[in-house]
Amino acid sequence: MAQQPSGTELMDKIVSLCKRRGFIFQSSEIYGGLNGCWDYGPLGVELLKNLKDAWWKSMTYRDDVEGLDAAILMHPRVWEASGHVENFTDPMVDCKECKARFRADQIEESMCGNKAYQGRKAGKCAAEGKFTEARQFNLMFKTYIGPLEDSSAVVYLRPETAQGIYVNFYNVKDSTRQKIPFGIAQIGKAFRNEINTKNFLFRTREFEQMEMQFFVKPGTDMEWFNHWKETRKQWYINLGMSPDKLNFHEHEKLAHYASAAFDIEFLFPFGWGEIEGIHNRTDYDLRRHQEFSGKNLEYFDDATKEKFIPYVIETSAGASRGLMAFLCNAYAEEEAPTGEGKTEIRTVMKFHSQLAPVKAAVLPLVRKDGMPEIATKLYDELKKRFRVFYDESATVGKRYRRQDEIGTPYCITIDSETLQNQTVTIRYRDTMTQERIAIDKTSNYLSERL
Ligand code: GAP
Repeated sequence: MAQQPSGTELMDKIVSLCKRRGFIFQSSEIYGGLNGCWDYGPLGVELLKNLKDAWWKSMTYRDDVEGLDAAILMHPRVWEASGHVENFTDPMVDCKECKARFRADQIEESMCGNKAYQGRKAGKCAAEGKFTEARQFNLMFKTYIGPLEDSSAVVYLRPETAQGIYVNFYNVKDSTRQKIPFGIAQIGKAFRNEINTKNFLFRTREFEQMEMQFFVKPGTDMEWFNHWKETRKQWYINLGMSPDKLNFHEHEKLAHYASAAFDIEFLFPFGWGEIEGIHNRTDYDLRRHQEFSGKNLEYFDDATKEKFIPYVIETSAGASRGLMAFLCNAYAEEEAPTGEGKTEIRTVMKFHSQLAPVKAAVLPLVRKDGMPEIATKLYDELKKRFRVFYDESATVGKRYRRQDEIGTPYCITIDSETLQNQTVTIRYRDTMTQERIAIDKTSNYLSERL
């Protein structure tokens, strides 16, 4: 095994691979980019979709969770009830010297914004009294609904998808006849006007969340909390995340709505970072929406004839941040044979096959002897069922490397033996070993393994 890059070097390699191979681009790059926003390229969008599909299947293809897709814009009273207008703030300070802006609670981890002081820690400037007093800054993006830009028309871009679920709790319950305990799951964009965006997709201003709110009877909440905490960590492991890069971090300082909270953390190249939060939100949200909307949001338990406001266990994962964790988890550099008796270093993205953006590549060994025709026919058949890629340019070794770099689990090669006995070789990304199978079995072979 070749020595693995780490830290900043690893992060730089991942960012560069993402751009070069079409996973992630800077938003509005030709205009110099827009801070805190990223675009998903052809492979990135496929990877993100596979990640969201994996989450959606595991969270909603079951009896006790329903799906939802609520609007991004909601009634402004929602954010008063939720506490976001009052509490969703970060303390902000400005450096009087270099004019850079920082989150006051993250000074110690921040670097000076002035190029002339490159490498200088912001904490040093703070100690030298260069910062303004901290001011509270609300992270919600504001806009106006309709043509009038006055205070009565203010709406917010949602900073979390969760509130769309709470305000629809009764609609979902009544239309599906679900009884608690049951959950509602949603995937969607969220927006936060973060003071400092950082670390690629880790902290951005526009991102996607995959949230599930599980409504339970008060008193059973901690049992469900522990259940979901373990279930969600296992989900990452099942998708190939290495268990030693996953950790639980218990919150000591709780958000205004929570009575217990754990983060699932991933070991990024820059250190441990939260990828998902598991929260016991008690009856805070439904109770507040009852108060602010004036609608009775109590639940009537048929079996016990009791009335109560359900407690909520929330699993809140970042799709974009999770994608970045899966990118970091997959990246490896390894020694690989060149085919001429030598070795070289290959970069390989070891994505779980469910996540891999391309499932298989079809490669004619040479561009003659009828091989491209057979390969094209196979490709046309496979593309009806899988995301596959056809490549006939360069040596087969180079084509393997291209596929390794984007994490394609299988390469199918059509060679001279194919012409004689209608078999193909299947080459595995991780072991680089090969196997021969009949060409007409390829489609089923892939479907069994994917
Ligand atoms: N509904 C609860 C909630 O939103 P959170 O801990 O603020 O909780 C949940 O966010 C998840 O959303 C985080 O674990 C992270 O994966 C993702 N997330 C939050 N802020 C983000 C940002 N600025 N950029 C990217 N992902 C973010």
